[in-house]
Amino acid sequence: MPETLTITDNRTGKTYEIPIDHDTVRAMDLRQIKVQDDEFGMMTYDPGYTNSASCKSEVTYIDGDKGILEYRGYPIEQLAEKSSFMEVAYLLLNGDLPNGGQLEGWQQSLSQHTIVHENIKRQMESFRYDAHPMGMMISTVAALSTFYPDAKAVRCADNRKLQIERLMAKIPTIAAFTFRHSQGHPYIYPSNKLGYTENFLTMMFRMVGNDYVPDPAIVKALDVLFILHADHEQNCSASVMRAIGSSEADPYSAWAGAAAALYGPLHGGANEAVLKMLNEIGDVSNVPEYMDRCKNGELRLMGFGHRVYKNYDPRARIIKKCADEVFEVTGRNPLLDVALELERIALEDEYFVKRKLYPNVDFYSGLIYQAIGLPVAMFPVLFAIPRTIGWLAQWAESLEDKEQRIQRPRQIFLGERERNYVPRNER
Ligand code: CMC
Repeated sequence: MPETLTITDNRTGKTYEIPIDHDTVRAMDLRQIKVQDDEFGMMTYDPGYTNSASCKSEVTYIDGDKGILEYRGYPIEQLAEKSSFMEVAYLLLNGDLPNGGQLEGWQQSLSQHTIVHENIKRQMESFRYDAHPMGMMISTVAALSTFYPDAKAVRCADNRKLQIERLMAKIPTIAAFTFRHSQGHPYIYPSNKLGYTENFLTMMFRMVGNDYVPDPAIVKALDVLFILHADHEQNCSASVMRAIGSSEADPYSAWAGAAAALYGPLHGGANEAVLKMLNEIGDVSNVPEYMDRCKNGELRLMGFGHRVYKNYDPRARIIKKCADEVFEVTGRNPLLDVALELERIALEDEYFVKRKLYPNVDFYSGLIYQAIGLPVAMFPVLFAIPRTIGWLAQWAESLEDKEQRIQRPRQIFLGERERNYVPRNER
C-alpha cells in the first residue's frame, strides 16, 4: 500500500502525490499547490491547532478516545500506584526510570539548588498582601533569569541540565513562599534532609518553633497528584514553553510564559474555577438548575471536557480514589457531594454524553487541595510545580530536534490593503 495521499486540485485539474508519514502530511508539501506560478501556494488553516502536529515527541502518549495516558511508555495508573514524583520526573526528563544510584544522584543534585537568592525573597516580600500566588510565582521565576544569565546558553546540554536542576529545586521553595506571603507568615527555608513533596509541605505549613511533620498519607496523596500533573504532551502551556524556547530564550523566561498560559481558567486555572463553582452551587439541591444553565450555554461546567480526552480522563479516576484516602485523614470535604451529583447527572445527560464531556484532572483535585488546607488561589500553583518537569522535558527535546525552527505560524489576511493615509482634519 503506497504511503501517499493523492490530491486533485479542481481549480486546475492538476494532481499531486503527497507523502504520508505517521498518518500525517507535511503542511509544506501543500505549498506546491497553486493556480498561478507566482502565487504563494496552499496552506492549512487550523485555529486552536485542533488537528496539527507541531513536533515529534517521545515524552508522553495520549489516546483520548480510549482514555490512555503514558509517560515514556509507562501507564499513568502504574506510575501513580508504584512510583514517586522524583522517579517520574527523572523518567520524563531522561527517558527511563532511574536505578537506585541514579535516583539518589538526581535528588542529591536538586538538593544543591533549593534555596533562592535573598534578593528574590525580598522581591517577593514587596508584593501586596493579597497578591495572587500565581502572579507572584510567574514574575518571580521570570526574575530568576536575571540571576542566572548563564542560562542563555540553551544549546549547551550540560548548561541545560544545570538550569533544569535549578528550576526543579527552586520551584517548590518559591511556591511555598507565595503561600506564606499570602498568610502574612515568615518564609520557611527548604530542608535538604526531606523528600521533594515533604519538603514542600513543610515549607508551607511549619510555624516558627514547631516541629510540623506532614501526615504520610497527605505526602503520598500530594506526590500522586504531582505525578498526575507532571506532563500532558502538547497542551497549551507546553506549546508556549516550546514556542518561547524556539526563539532560544532562557528557560526561566520560557517557564514564566508557560505558567502564564497555565494560569487561565480553561487550562490549569480550572481547578480554582471548579472550587468557586462548587461553592457557588453550595448544595446538591441546586445542581439541576446549574446544569440547565450549562446546557443553555450560559455557563461552562468547570472541570469537565477536554480537547483530547473524549472518554473519562484517566487522571480524574485516580484522583477520585486518592480523594477518599485523603478524606480519611482530613475529614470529608462537604463539597464532594455536590461534585458527585454533578458528575452523576452529567454522565447521564444527553447534552454531556453527546459531546463526550467527562470529568477532567481538575474536577476532583481542588477538593483534595482544600482538604489539605490550601486556599483556592494556590491551586494553579500546585499544578505548576509538577508541570515544571513536563515543560522542561519538552523544552529540552525541542532544542535537540534538528527539524525545529523558530515558531512562526502563517495567517489568512482578511483586512484592508493599500490604503492611502488621510490627514487627520480630513477624516
Ligand atoms: N461545559 C459545558 N459545555 C462544554 C464544556 C463544559 N465544560 N466543555 C465543552 N463544552 C461544549 C461546548 O460548548 C461545545 O458545544 P457545541 O458543540 O454545542 O458548541 C462542545 O462541548 C465542544 O467544546 P469546545 O469548546 O469546542 O472544546 P475544546 O476542545 O475547544 O475545549 C476545554 C476544551 C477543556 C477548553 C473545554 O472543555 C472547557 O472549557 N472545559 C472547562 C474548563 C476546564 O475544565 N479546563 C481544564 C482542562 S483539563 C486540564 C488542563 O488542560 O489544564
